[in-house]
Amino acid sequence: MNVDGVPYRSIWVNGDGISVDVIDQTRLPHAFEIMNLKTLDDACVAIRDMVVRGAPLIGATAAFGFYLALRHDASDRGMQTAYDLLYATRPTAVNLRWALDRMHQTVRRLEPEERAARAYAEAGAIAALDVETNQGIGRFGLVLIESIAMKKKPGETINILTHCNAGWLATVDWGTATAPIYMAHDAGIPIHVWVDETRPRNQGASLTAWELGHHGVPHSLVVDNAGGHLMQHGLVDLCLVGSDRTTRSGDVCNKIGTYLKALAANDNDVPFYVCLPSTTIDWTISDGRAEIPIEQRDGSEVSQVIGKTSDGQIAAVAIAPDGTPVVNYAFDVTPARLISGLITESGIADANERSLGHAFPKFSARPG
Ligand code: MRU
Repeated sequence: MNVDGVPYRSIWVNGDGISVDVIDQTRLPHAFEIMNLKTLDDACVAIRDMVVRGAPLIGATAAFGFYLALRHDASDRGMQTAYDLLYATRPTAVNLRWALDRMHQTVRRLEPEERAARAYAEAGAIAALDVETNQGIGRFGLVLIESIAMKKKPGETINILTHCNAGWLATVDWGTATAPIYMAHDAGIPIHVWVDETRPRNQGASLTAWELGHHGVPHSLVVDNAGGHLMQHGLVDLCLVGSDRTTRSGDVCNKIGTYLKALAANDNDVPFYVCLPSTTIDWTISDGRAEIPIEQRDGSEVSQVIGKTSDGQIAAVAIAPDGTPVVNYAFDVTPARLISGLITESGIADANERSLGHAFPKFSARPG
């Protein structure tokens, strides 16, 4: 998508044809900086420190990190080390495992001297697939928005609530939850987006608001606690969120707070849809609450807020008494029963095993 009129993706191969560039998302929205990744370690740090984040982008970065590793050590042992180190960077988004498995399977039978070149091509293919997939999600989501616009509010503004950043910065391009929004906006449907700030790291305030602003999509930033009130007063026509891992039965794990939005949507008859690529489906598990590992992060993300000071510095300020004990779960699970539908690149599925299996017969047939 465009940044000040210049088309960008969130990850791309540097002009040297070897290393990889990413947008440093820890600096947004206050500074637009590019970080160059040259080594396996660079890629691991970028994922772990959330320079890059969002399930699909984590997968694409891991794929490029695997390629960077093979440039230095393409032995079987080197490959395994790269796999293990990248796999350990973040636990919840299943795209990480999907991308690493695909990279490993692609190169493992090759001679070591052939592996890096093949890995380079495969990482590029993974990134390209993500863009294509999100466009597919966008097209199906657009049909949904069009039908809500036609049936319920012809000619009026459609208000969409989103949580965290499931935008183009969380993917390679387009985003998942934002792809239908960008397409509807570009098609001339009047859209307004309620952007949840998404504590503790504020991906909504810092990333989604930045993205939508740069694309010219009308939006308002709200505190996380506002969603229920907005829905009670008829101010939300549709919720669109992303997913970090979806079970084969349709439970969705996404940024902490998603579950509360789904509860409020259910109580107020607001359609609650999850936009996800099939790479986010974990076909090996069924019960999201019991089986998905939930990342716990450093307490400083809760006890501090990072922002720009009046003298232009990006700084952290404390918002709790020093030494306050903090618990910081990064994700929660929304049970399938609260989800109106799953918008995928293969169409809109009901949140259950039968419908997902129908949408993706090839994957669902795999043994768990
Ligand atoms: O901790 P993050 O910023 O990686 O969490 C991101 C999310 O929860 C997104 O909503 C999810 O990855 C879907 S992104 C297309």
